[in-house]
Amino acid sequence: MIKLLSGLLALLVAAAVQAAPLTLTSPSGTLTLHVEVNGDGRPDYWLTRNGKPVLDRSRLGFILADGAKLERNFVPSELSRTRVDTTWEQPWGERRYVRDRHSELQVAFEETGALKRRMLVIFRLFDDGLGFRYALPAQPNLQQARIVEELTEFAVSEAGDAWWVPGGEWNRYEYLTQRTAIDQVSQAHTVLSMRTASGLHLAIHEAALVDYAGMWLRRVEGQRFKARLAPAADGPSVVRDVPFVTPWRVVLVARDAAGLVAASDIILNLNEPNRLGDTSWFKPHKYVGVWWEMHLDTASWASGAKHGATTTNTRRYIDFAAKHGFRGVLVEGWNVGWDGDWFANGADFSFTRATPDFDIAALSAYGLKKGVRLIGHHETSANIANYEPQLAAGLDLYQRLGIDAVKTGYVADAGGVQAPGGRFEWHDGQRMSRHHLLVVTEAAKRKIAVNPHEPIKDTGLRRTYPNWVSREGARGMEYNAWGDPKNPPSHEVDLVYTRMLSGPFDYTPGVLSLTGRGGSPIPSTLARQLALYVTLYSPIQMAADLPENYQKQMAAFQFIKDVPADWSESRLVSGEMGSHAAFARKDRNSEDWYLGAITNEEGRALEIGLDFLTPGKRYEAQIYADGEGADYRQDSRSRIRIAKRVVQSTDRLPIVLAPGGGQAVRFRAL
Ligand code: NOJ
Repeated sequence: MIKLLSGLLALLVAAAVQAAPLTLTSPSGTLTLHVEVNGDGRPDYWLTRNGKPVLDRSRLGFILADGAKLERNFVPSELSRTRVDTTWEQPWGERRYVRDRHSELQVAFEETGALKRRMLVIFRLFDDGLGFRYALPAQPNLQQARIVEELTEFAVSEAGDAWWVPGGEWNRYEYLTQRTAIDQVSQAHTVLSMRTASGLHLAIHEAALVDYAGMWLRRVEGQRFKARLAPAADGPSVVRDVPFVTPWRVVLVARDAAGLVAASDIILNLNEPNRLGDTSWFKPHKYVGVWWEMHLDTASWASGAKHGATTTNTRRYIDFAAKHGFRGVLVEGWNVGWDGDWFANGADFSFTRATPDFDIAALSAYGLKKGVRLIGHHETSANIANYEPQLAAGLDLYQRLGIDAVKTGYVADAGGVQAPGGRFEWHDGQRMSRHHLLVVTEAAKRKIAVNPHEPIKDTGLRRTYPNWVSREGARGMEYNAWGDPKNPPSHEVDLVYTRMLSGPFDYTPGVLSLTGRGGSPIPSTLARQLALYVTLYSPIQMAADLPENYQKQMAAFQFIKDVPADWSESRLVSGEMGSHAAFARKDRNSEDWYLGAITNEEGRALEIGLDFLTPGKRYEAQIYADGEGADYRQDSRSRIRIAKRVVQSTDRLPIVLAPGGGQAVRFRAL
């Protein structure tokens, strides 16, 4: 009897222990994570900030194609707890040093049924965000995971507004940001950003998307979002042999907009350190290119009378680049395959054969003599079945010629990637996550940097592969050539708090003519075009306009010549989601600071404290401001006021932004 009672007692104690949620607190105690299985043995997690709910109980798990779902009848056990506080150095970036300070908890969930399958979840809690990933360890009853759906949920506790673009639609990530109530989101790509009624700033994204499908977020009910994995051509979205780990699911949690921007370092922190060793051969730089004229339709990618990528035209760009200190000249349409409907086929592209009017060898040599490198271009029209077999040869050619950066392109509607085997894939499906890493690693072997357009989203893999330097992944400047509509001023502000949280964007700013196709006006002021170099970060920045247009705007062009593409520090010094953004960034290679401010459609006056400058030091502020009466809707958009004054860290700089305007400042250390 006594034995029976003590047995019962032991069971009760075990149940009590099991019932208590596991908790994890962030290093300063700001965030607390709770993990618990419910009465069905279903794992849930929830998140609080200073005791207030951020995420309500949210599910974890998977639906498998060939086995019972991994979701219920689990017993949790704590595997390990660690704390990390370390600082690592970026080879290039928005800041030189990144601090990684988090608490980690690993939880094993083991099934009580006959299969006894095991699923681990690794949680990392920072003071400004949560990351977690699944790990499926080697086990007899789960040797391959065929994942139809991930059951991960994010149940946002508090009402508020959301900024998002639709996920799973034909134009990939290239939509204008929608601002709706959180409970009005349909299916969104990440980054999905939110501001709640109490002012909490949240963003959901993912980190280290490797050999897995990209995560969309589908609103299930109220403010509850569920992961939806980008589909595969057929069968489950993800097929992986066990053991493996999933990408990290990331929730950034901050008090204000500046905190949200700063929190995005978490995405880098959750990625593996550099695997490529010394990548100092990649130099952040600015470039010009045979590009805007095609978007204006005054030149063509296709060969013939309008062909842009001719030897003569490219020489002109090389001369311009050399004269004004640009390292790169991008040339699109240089190769065979653009004649006919390249949008639709992509099967004709050769990545080794130049058109007869483009002497690639002579041009690269000509550039090298002048300190200018050609930038390669591999438009694939998302036909990777045609591209992958040519990849090595295409990159070899570039390496031989001293071309050390390539822009790739995947023009095709979502779901229209043509993969080997006649399969049609999604730009953010598992197949493409593999493809991009194949390109990046093959390029790295040849010391070539990669900049994909129509890419898979950025999940911080630049930390692991520092030659993956930039990408597109949202509406870029090209929409201001031919878009209907063009990019309204609010678009670039929205980018700061959504797309830009994920990483560098090859937005290609600097169209100082402020005109698109047929002379149509671009909804921007002139000063704003300069400010974009500071507000939209990329380690490669294009000066997108035509050389002849820059000749007409030499005073404003000076800022584009001066602004660096590599920073030792960056911070949002003023900003609000949906309203405006002002960044201060310090040049990685000098004592100079730069400021870029942009606003939405509304004019706005800001006063920026210059306390980011080194105390006691004097700086010449070279100010490029919207001119009197400037307005993005009127001819006055081109009015600019360029002024100089001496400032120091105790000063405050008044900034007046025109409707759709901006301001750029260089603080030259004296
Ligand atoms: C779309 C890219 O975004 C653009 O930059 C490029 O010029 C065209 N595709 C052609 O490759």
